Amino acid sequence: MLVLVILTNLLTMYIFAGPSSFNLHPISKYTQHLSLPLWEPPSALLHELNATQRELTRSRSEIEELTQQLKFTNLIVKALATDLPRLQNSVSANQITSNSSILDHINGLSREIKLAIGPHKLPLGYSPRMGSDELFPPVGGACLKYKDELAQYMAYTIGAECPVDDVFAQQLMLKGCEPLPRRRCHPKAPAKYVNPTPLPGSLWATPPDTSIVWDPYTCKNYKCLIDRKNKPGYYDCKDCFDLQGREKARWLFDKGLDYGVDQVLSTKPRGTIRIGLDIGGGTGTFAARMKERNVTIITTSMNLDGPFNSFISSRGLLSMHLSISQRLPFFENTLDIVHSMHVLSNWIPDMVLEFTLYDIYRVLRPGGLLWLDHFFCLGHQLNTTYVPMLNRAGFKRLRWNAGLKLDRGADKNEWYFSALLEKPMS
Ligand SMILES: *[C@@H]1O[C@H](CO)[C@@H](O)[C@H](O)[C@H]1NC(C)=O
Ligand SMILES: *[C@@H]1O[C@H](CO)[C@@H](O)[C@H](O)[C@H]1NC(C)=O
Ligand SMILES: *[C@@H]1O[C@H](CO)[C@@H](O)[C@H](O)[C@H]1NC(C)=O
Ligand SMILES: *[C@@H]1O[C@H](CO)[C@@H](O)[C@H](O)[C@H]1NC(C)=O
Repeated sequence: MLVLVILTNLLTMYIFAGPSSFNLHPISKYTQHLSLPLWEPPSALLHELNATQRELTRSRSEIEELTQQLKFTNLIVKALATDLPRLQNSVSANQITSNSSILDHINGLSREIKLAIGPHKLPLGYSPRMGSDELFPPVGGACLKYKDELAQYMAYTIGAECPVDDVFAQQLMLKGCEPLPRRRCHPKAPAKYVNPTPLPGSLWATPPDTSIVWDPYTCKNYKCLIDRKNKPGYYDCKDCFDLQGREKARWLFDKGLDYGVDQVLSTKPRGTIRIGLDIGGGTGTFAARMKERNVTIITTSMNLDGPFNSFISSRGLLSMHLSISQRLPFFENTLDIVHSMHVLSNWIPDMVLEFTLYDIYRVLRPGGLLWLDHFFCLGHQLNTTYVPMLNRAGFKRLRWNAGLKLDRGADKNEWYFSALLEKPMS
């Protein structure tokens, strides 16, 4: 109880003594002025009205900001409350009241966010290379839109084990807070980690269950993930964990919408497709196929209720935990090939997709390939939206196949198209 009383007081203190406490400007000052004599010219009246309106808008935004601040403070207190039992174990309640360790703790939490996102003065001073004397670790601008989530993400004990908050953190990324700030805590480690399977066997091996931490996922072992394909319900990349199933034959044959890797590689001089990217590459089978042909592919993937990134790495392939929204972290004119199956589709807002296509164009080298594999859309979108968009981005068509997607009935007018596109040589 004593602690709760202290907390309440502290909360009040924090709000009213915080660095950005507000004084709401008395509106009455203006309303007084409004009681103008009737003979006052209407322009002056309008002027007053304008001023009042502006004041009102300002007060509203101040109230909004205050609400945000309050939410933020609540969160800190909540985080503190979860930490209290531990604090009490090491320090008696009397000691807490007798010194300011709780206040230190509150300040510490918000300090950690500030430390993570900077700015930090460069120890050697102004750097002409950077054109600045300070550095802001990059955090997506949207992080600042989700201040309370960000505060929750940064509420941990420095140097200890991080909270297992993968799902929460990934949601934050998917909403646009990407990249996330760094944290000074250690991720939970798998309890009985064993050395990975050596290459080349690892490319098609199911990893040991002990190689990862299962807490964030519904399934608690690989057998469960493999069996998903027989279960009802929607899961991302439902049959991808079964390497002996459909994955085994992907991209081996060339027919209609399904292009074969060998056929695609043969559109270019032998050995000139060497490095590339698979956007939203599930469990990494595309990269495995390409590795067998001496092509190095980085696979981006989210961990949507499955350990996709861990699985790809276990196969001995490169995974990157990156959403489709982020600017590709490659320099221009560098990649030989970019592939994407199912992921680039009509769920992405048109404008976001157009920026993505220009970004892919940017990182592809001249003559590089964009392989859009089973792009899903509705019939009317195909020719009115996506074909013009691909043309605008500047790609040249090498192959093009479109076909009705019939599994939900032809009347749905759902389509797939597959395309092999090229960034022009000049
Ligand atoms: C009031 O504001 C509007 C636009 O906000 C402006 O067009 C108008 O000229 C202003 N009137 C006066 C009297 O300042
Ligand atoms: C507060 O008390 C704890 C436990 O006795 C002690 O370790 C810490 O140094 C004290 N802090 C201050 C600022 O006095
Ligand atoms: C891949 O590279 C290795 C080593 O250079 C070579 O022996 C092998 O034949 C290559 N495989 C293919 C499919 O080109
Ligand atoms: C799109 O346009 C092409 C050629 O202009 C045409 O052959 C095709 O049927 C159209 N597709 C759809 C789905 O309307």
